[in-house]
Amino acid sequence: MNTQQQDLLGLRFMRLGMLALSAGLLVGVIGGFQFLFPEFLRELLFTKTRPLHVSLVVAWIFLAAIGGIYFYLPRQRKLKLASYRAVSWHYWIFVVTGLAIIASFLAGKFGGREYLEYPVALSIPIFLSWIIFGVNYFRTVRKEREPWPVYYWMWGTGIVFFFITYLEAYLWVIPYFRDNMVREIMVQWKAYGALTGSWNMLVYGTALYVATRIAGDDKPARSKLAFSLFFLGLFNLMFGWAHHTYLVPSLPWIRTFAYAVSMTELLILGKILWDWRASLESWQKNRYCSAYRFLYAADIWIFINLILALIISVPAWNLYTHGTHITVAHAMGSTIGINTMILLASVYYVLREELPQKVRDGCAGQVTLGFWLANISLGVFFLALIAAGVGKFMYDGPSFQEMMASIRPFLLLFAVSGIGLMVGLWIVLWHAYRLMGTILAADRPVDVKLGLPVGAD
Ligand code: HEM
Repeated sequence: MNTQQQDLLGLRFMRLGMLALSAGLLVGVIGGFQFLFPEFLRELLFTKTRPLHVSLVVAWIFLAAIGGIYFYLPRQRKLKLASYRAVSWHYWIFVVTGLAIIASFLAGKFGGREYLEYPVALSIPIFLSWIIFGVNYFRTVRKEREPWPVYYWMWGTGIVFFFITYLEAYLWVIPYFRDNMVREIMVQWKAYGALTGSWNMLVYGTALYVATRIAGDDKPARSKLAFSLFFLGLFNLMFGWAHHTYLVPSLPWIRTFAYAVSMTELLILGKILWDWRASLESWQKNRYCSAYRFLYAADIWIFINLILALIISVPAWNLYTHGTHITVAHAMGSTIGINTMILLASVYYVLREELPQKVRDGCAGQVTLGFWLANISLGVFFLALIAAGVGKFMYDGPSFQEMMASIRPFLLLFAVSGIGLMVGLWIVLWHAYRLMGTILAADRPVDVKLGLPVGAD
């Protein structure tokens, strides 16, 4: 493998992530229709579609973020990765473990706790891959002579905290935790809150990296505001989880504290992206039009999600909203609207850098169609889930069936807009997947003027 191919290893992660997301979307739509028709596709009931969907879309978030880090680091003042072999190992461990997880779900073999429902033994290669990733990352960035920009800190913190919290999510295998229900739920949900915090670090670091590259100015990544986002994110990651545990008896100050810190992080990220957009010249926006557009969408979704998060985090209201479709709206609104939009911006930034000609053309065509279809559908999807959630807790009759019948129109809207969201994202992903394939297939260096591998049509 030559140096150019080595430096493209990150793109393999991104492409694998796109495949995972495409499959995850389809399974999500099947799950959406199972809300309405529980017997729909009996071979793949909701007990299987839910964990499959969540695992596939979370795999997309990790793969796209990790792929970006592997791709961006060697382009940072020629910071060569400490080990390319480790990157290949990481990739293959992910592929094999991922396939084993999918196979175990399809076979109906579960073993873990919610969100990590695959057999416990499969967590071992995942731990291993994070050690490989972490060691490689820190050995690489250690070579940086200048003070670290904020995204190095964010990526590093995300990696370390993922490892710690993933370990924590498996504490239930020890009888001391498992034997006491309150203790187990508390530790489990604390770990999940922090696990989300750690992937947010990877994703927000990527957002700042891409934003500063588009602007051609690294200063915002070294600004006080960016570091306050980092410290707030870190603080949130350590303490903000308590808004996941309102239902469990715990000390009141923990809840109040968690509520106070958990919203500020999003607000600061929203503000940084807002200022960044205002600072861009038209030519910069045009040059990176797709990447710019996805970051713009992420910024809007940050504010929309912030409003919902503020409402559902008020402890007294959380008692009603918890476990309804409103929580699902919050989870999907942020993983799609914020995380996925940022990661698509990263994918399209990479494409624009590697294939300038092709991606400029993509701005006005299919990608625009996919972008609007996905975002408009997401708006309807999000509102339909909130309406279903409100309908659920407003219902005060005795019958579960009657309650479900009353929210059925909203669930139908949710499932139909889910199809729009899936098709929109598929269009965006297919375009990117194909173009990234041409970059990877090229053994030859890319001709910068043509934006194509040397000698290609
Ligand atoms: C980028 C795309 C998507 C991402 C990142 C995503 C993410 C998620 C996450 C994180 C959850 C867990 C929510 C929770 O536990 O509260 C979830 C659940 C779910 N998602 Fe998605 N999702 C996506 C697209 C879709 C689509 C297009 C549909 C189609 C209707 C869909 C249907 C579902 C369903 C039915 C559930 C289960 C909800 C429940 O258990 O009550 N998702 N998704």
